[in-house]
Amino acid sequence: MGTLSVHIDWHYLLRELWQAYRFGSAGGSKPIRAHLKDVRNRLNAEMLTDPQVVELEPQRLPVTDWLGRALDQGTQAPTASLVRSVARIAPTLSWRYGYDRVPRGLRNKYAFAEIMGPSGPVVSERLILDLVMLAPSCTYPSHAHDGITESYLCLSGTLSENDVGVYAPGSLLYNPPNHMHRITTGDFEPVLLAYAWAGERDKLIGQKMSFSRKLSSP
Ligand SMILES: [Fe+2]
Repeated sequence: MGTLSVHIDWHYLLRELWQAYRFGSAGGSKPIRAHLKDVRNRLNAEMLTDPQVVELEPQRLPVTDWLGRALDQGTQAPTASLVRSVARIAPTLSWRYGYDRVPRGLRNKYAFAEIMGPSGPVVSERLILDLVMLAPSCTYPSHAHDGITESYLCLSGTLSENDVGVYAPGSLLYNPPNHMHRITTGDFEPVLLAYAWAGERDKLIGQKMSFSRKLSSP
């Protein structure tokens, strides 16, 4: 326990994420520029409160065997400074599936770990920041988020979303609320993503991970 000001490695990880959302390019897109600003403003406001940090029980899952390689590759990439800050806190991360029923194909190929959110480790009800680990040759099924604006920041490896484009470390993928998206990873390297969820407080608190095929893209 304690606040962010005495958890130095977590403090610098959040600073690195803030910089990614402050200095990362929006590629000329107004909605993406607005999302970057929204995320960094929420993060800045939360850091000014010196939020509580709760220590979760470290937990590994099969896919975290790939984490070492993902961190090694990420420190060769433009995201190196951010990846090194992830490496600092990696031994303390609590990797989970987040779903009541995990599709069989994902059990050995996927996990997520929380950085900031309603249940910690850094406690916030206005922004969720997490990490996702994906093995090579992984398909993360189509899903969407109700009332949540999401971005994925690629830290290591290469991925595709909705079979449109291939994204490398430093790329930011933007998913507005209810936008269906499906991710695939390259054949030879694991993928480490950071993601941000911004939305109304009740949506952030009640957000469930689920795969839905009912929603359609806007
Ligand atoms: Fe998503």
